[in-house]
Amino acid sequence: MGVDMVPVGHDLRETLESALSLWWLRPENGLALASYCLAGTDLRPTPGENAADFACGDGVNSFFKCGGRFAPEFDLFGGAVHPATSREIVSQGIDVFAHQADDYNPQIRQRPDRGYQWGTDHKPALLAKARPLGFYQHLLEADLRQPAAIPAESLDLAYCNSLYWVPDVATAFDHIVDKVRPGGRLVLDVMTDRRSALSFDALLPAMPQAWRDLMNRGRQNNNPGILSQSGWEALFGRNERVEIVGCRDIFPSAIAQIWNVGLRPLFPVLNRMADAIAAERRPDIKREWVEIFADLFEPVLRDPGALMPTGPSARLQFIIRRR
Ligand SMILES: C[S@@+](CC[C@H](N)C(=O)[O-])C[C@H]1O[C@@H](n2cnc3c(N)ncnc32)[C@H](O)[C@@H]1O
Repeated sequence: MGVDMVPVGHDLRETLESALSLWWLRPENGLALASYCLAGTDLRPTPGENAADFACGDGVNSFFKCGGRFAPEFDLFGGAVHPATSREIVSQGIDVFAHQADDYNPQIRQRPDRGYQWGTDHKPALLAKARPLGFYQHLLEADLRQPAAIPAESLDLAYCNSLYWVPDVATAFDHIVDKVRPGGRLVLDVMTDRRSALSFDALLPAMPQAWRDLMNRGRQNNNPGILSQSGWEALFGRNERVEIVGCRDIFPSAIAQIWNVGLRPLFPVLNRMADAIAAERRPDIKREWVEIFADLFEPVLRDPGALMPTGPSARLQFIIRRR
């Protein structure tokens, strides 16, 4: 394989509970995050390595995947997200997380051993949220479709889980390859056409359009670059400067199906309800909520194939070496 990856050594229950605590009002995202941690490669740079996280968003997920943990009192929701209603989110295409609250303060219980040199994103509000994590040395406003202001061939590790968010994935991929030194590695988490098949337009076309919109919540518009597994292999394989050295299923079918339903349509109102809970009652309610979802999800995470046969993956992690 040519690349020696050491697993982070996550404890399954601890990972799941911590991910659910972070994403408590979107438990399906907590489950997905736990799956990415357990099934994915180690994303921590080794000592002295220079790493970049392309399209890092608010950084909480990469921070978590590298072993960072948040205090239970930290809330990703509440005042930290846009207070739009479900209908406004769909009709205006609002990104509720690209909302900078003055008092946004990610309380940290455990820092990752090592951080990333660079984090990039095209949304300044998300970069502003990433700053207080102290996980990225430099945060750059940059579009994946343009070369970022990172020196050429300077990276030992480039991570990106958002390539398919742009239509021209080949250009975005080439720009990232340019930044990696010969012998360095790229880790790319991509959605496949199995993800498109999870759209309720494809799954349940007989349901009324308004119903499908409520369930889809505009997700499909964000992912114009999705390819099939063979499409991704062909795209990465075409670039003579790199070779694919690994590919992992980080989102088995059973987990993808649960994620696909989730609490998405309810989230705006759940968010306002949770915000209205008195501060002294919140920790107990949140703890109980997290425990229930952890009990529900643990067996699925432990053995997804027992719930549903695992077919072609909706999300793959490609590990690619720069020649
Ligand atoms: C699924 S989110 C992932 C964010 C983060 N990496 C994480 O794991 O939480 C997709 C990210 O891609 C960013 N993005 C979308 N289109 C982009 C573009 N053209 N250039 C740079 N970033 C982009 C979004 O702002 C968002 O932060």
